[in-house]
Amino acid sequence: MSTQSSRTPTTTWACRSAFSIRLDRLLANLGYGSRAEIRAALAEGRVSVGGVPEKNAARKVCARDVMLDGQTLDHPDGICIILHKPAGYACSHDPREAPLIYDLLPPRWMRRSPKLSSVGRLDRDTTGLIIITDNTELIHDLTSPKRAIPKVYIIETDPAGAELDERLIPLFASGSLRITEKDTEEPCLPAELTITGKRSAHLVLYEGRYHQVKRMFAACGYHVCALHRESLGSWTLEGLEPGTYTDAHNTP
Ligand code: URA
Repeated sequence: MSTQSSRTPTTTWACRSAFSIRLDRLLANLGYGSRAEIRAALAEGRVSVGGVPEKNAARKVCARDVMLDGQTLDHPDGICIILHKPAGYACSHDPREAPLIYDLLPPRWMRRSPKLSSVGRLDRDTTGLIIITDNTELIHDLTSPKRAIPKVYIIETDPAGAELDERLIPLFASGSLRITEKDTEEPCLPAELTITGKRSAHLVLYEGRYHQVKRMFAACGYHVCALHRESLGSWTLEGLEPGTYTDAHNTP
């Protein structure tokens, strides 16, 4: 079962509460129910603004001033979390691909607007750090090739396969490794490989192409049988157990 880490928040990722919004729309956007359910909650006096009960659905409010049933609203300024993805979960919204990473989060978050999305994807069998946010600008920023944010992976190759060859290090660093047959596609950007065992390695990538790690190793004749993402920029798993998450503070 997924739980939220108890690490103490420092700053919130993005403060959107300065913008005023209709009270009923705010509660609907934060996933607190249908318009009818929210109207009922207002009529029952369960909603307060600045500590004073409020029944007017059209009142313009700031999210941080609102309480429902005496509780402040959940992530009123938007969500940006670090999830420790366990193996077996798909980075997808398609229920046919269940179980999904979103199944590890509070169900109310799936009723929020804007919708939550992952920053890039990890394969179903890959474990480790994935960022999930409702901030589309942040997703664009973090996935922009201009940012070239380092992503650190831990790799194990097939125990029945060959031992890792030191010559992979300059090849991965060269910026000339191609992982596609198409001549038109650019080779991989220089990547930093550290061989840590006969069939284990660390790899730092500065881009994120489809199945990139597995395809880089496959292009050199190796099969990746275990893949884990340890960090993205300065964001790390910091002791988060698989299946748990925490708010991502500051920038990566
Ligand atoms: N590269 C891969 O091959 N798979 C992942 O999940 C992430 C990076």
